[in-house]
Amino acid sequence: LKNDIMDKENLLNKIDKRKLPVHIAIIMDGNGRWAKKRHLPRTFGHKKGVERVDEIVETAGDIGLKYLTLYAFSTENWQRSKTEVAVLMKLLHHYLVKELPRMQKNNIRFNTIGDIKKLPDFVYDKLVEVKELTGNNSGLTLILALNYGGRDDIVNAINSIIKNKLNKVTETEVSNYLYTSAIPDPDLLIRTSGEQRISNFLLWQLSYSELYFTPVLWPEFDKTEFYKAILEFQNRERRFGGL
Ligand code: FPP
Repeated sequence: LKNDIMDKENLLNKIDKRKLPVHIAIIMDGNGRWAKKRHLPRTFGHKKGVERVDEIVETAGDIGLKYLTLYAFSTENWQRSKTEVAVLMKLLHHYLVKELPRMQKNNIRFNTIGDIKKLPDFVYDKLVEVKELTGNNSGLTLILALNYGGRDDIVNAINSIIKNKLNKVTETEVSNYLYTSAIPDPDLLIRTSGEQRISNFLLWQLSYSELYFTPVLWPEFDKTEFYKAILEFQNRERRFGGL
């Protein structure tokens, strides 16, 4: 245990506070496989996954990150069993109720991307409430991607644009119509569980993001793993297509 604490502190000390990413996006994958390995139902993996959400949000706040976006429910996730979808919705609601006081205490502003009107009413109402109540906080912005799909985001933007104008559009205008209009593009995308795909996450917004893939399953992606991802990011050279 003592070694473990020293490891964590060493990693934290190696992080250059002046070169932090502003926005980290995470595809939290591998809850099901984590549970399967232990002969537990998939939903146990999601429960364990929420504990990692708590830990990563807290760490993000501690290091002074400005934006953290977590892919919690995709437009494709409706295809899962009714029970699994129901459990995810309950976990989400429970998370919001439990975390609201901590968000206020830690100055966290809560937001969402995706078509949340299609979520069950009890979840939708809570999401709106937590967004409103934390709207004036100025620390970390925590964004949950819920019923979010990258293609849906772009199609949605195109439909809004053609409602408003029919002449040529610019990249800036497209950005302004996406769910992420007020949020800078991610500097770093993390995906857990060994899959190396974008899976319809922020398709437009990830254009120049550094991609970090780790075999660690989401229920095991702790603070130390998070620091490792940030360190790897700091060791890469970002050129944005220039020299
Ligand atoms: C991927 O694991 C994870 C999800 C589809 C949902 C992520 C949700 C949580 C971490 C919990 C709810 C979130 C909050 C913020 C309360 P998977 O089921 O695809 O795993 P597998 O690929 O191993 O089957």
